[in-house]
Amino acid sequence: MTWLIPINIAEDGQATFDHFLTDLQRQLQDPNTHRAELVRELLAQTMYGRTYAELLGHLPVVALNLDPRNITFEAEYYMATDQTRFAQVKPLLWLWKNLDLTPLGQNPAFGIALRRVLAGFIFKKVGKNFKCWQNVEFSVGYNMEVGDEVVIHRHVLLDDIGGIELHDGASVSDYVNIYSHTHSVIDGPDVTLKKTVIGRGARITYHSTILAGSVVSDDAMLATHALLRGDIAPHGIAMGLPARTTRYKSRDDGASGPYGVDSRHWTHGPERKANPQFPDPTPTQTRLPSADE
Ligand SMILES: CC(C)(COP(=O)(O)OP(=O)(O)OC[C@H]1O[C@@H](n2cnc3c(N)ncnc32)[C@H](O)[C@@H]1OP(=O)(O)O)[C@@H](O)C(=O)NCCC(=O)NCCS
Repeated sequence: MTWLIPINIAEDGQATFDHFLTDLQRQLQDPNTHRAELVRELLAQTMYGRTYAELLGHLPVVALNLDPRNITFEAEYYMATDQTRFAQVKPLLWLWKNLDLTPLGQNPAFGIALRRVLAGFIFKKVGKNFKCWQNVEFSVGYNMEVGDEVVIHRHVLLDDIGGIELHDGASVSDYVNIYSHTHSVIDGPDVTLKKTVIGRGARITYHSTILAGSVVSDDAMLATHALLRGDIAPHGIAMGLPARTTRYKSRDDGASGPYGVDSRHWTHGPERKANPQFPDPTPTQTRLPSADE
């Protein structure tokens, strides 16, 4: 049973927003669309109320800075980034980030629907009813794998350079940081990429941080302000700094029903070194023990 209240906005507002988003989706589906030109045009119109050509004539520095070909993202400076894949998603991340700075992006009635459209063209995978509130940051975007009914709240950092999986029904609260890369303590440039996995129905609560390679199993919970540097078993509640699992949820339906566990979600992927100067570690493919093992 949902606990959210359905809200309707004025009909003309809804119709106009729907039309804008349908048109955006259509343009992004068209392989002939030049993404950088589309994005600079949309930003000129939505942020400055004039066409890109008009803005270029009046304020060239402002206009040129809207074009994704004239800006850089932090990810582009790292060896770990697949530059070809990033180039594909970069204009859309620039659109997402800039619209978050405008009244349009700060309006959930428009912003959530917009991010749902963009996620479909940025993420590796996104399921039904993805709900992302404002001011969320990604490292590269293309390494996000998101299931159905996933929610991400405000001011979250999703460092997906090594991969982040968010399985069905997972939720990530305000000001959470989830990482998927680490640096050697001895050598800063020795970067290891490790996928981080958030299981089905798991809840990552506000202001907590998850280090690379952690697995939060199905129906587990990370308490507020916790620092997770490992795994949480199914139904576990981990708290503290570093986080330790001190309690387990007890559910009447045991391991079945909507909170049932599926051990396929808890797999650690192989680790990968980002800098060829440092050798790859021995590949590992480990798994948490299942609830009945
Ligand atoms: C994990 C959590 C649910 C525990 O709440 P609770 O069951 O009411 O726990 P209690 O307040 O009864 O505390 C139980 C014990 O855990 C400790 N504890 C509770 N929260 C803690 C935290 N975040 N970090 C460290 N210890 C914590 C308490 O100090 C207490 O320890 P004690 O037994 O030694 O005295 C809560 O801390 C939390 O993180 N809530 C997040 C809220 C949420 O759902 N956010 C998502 C919204 S989108």
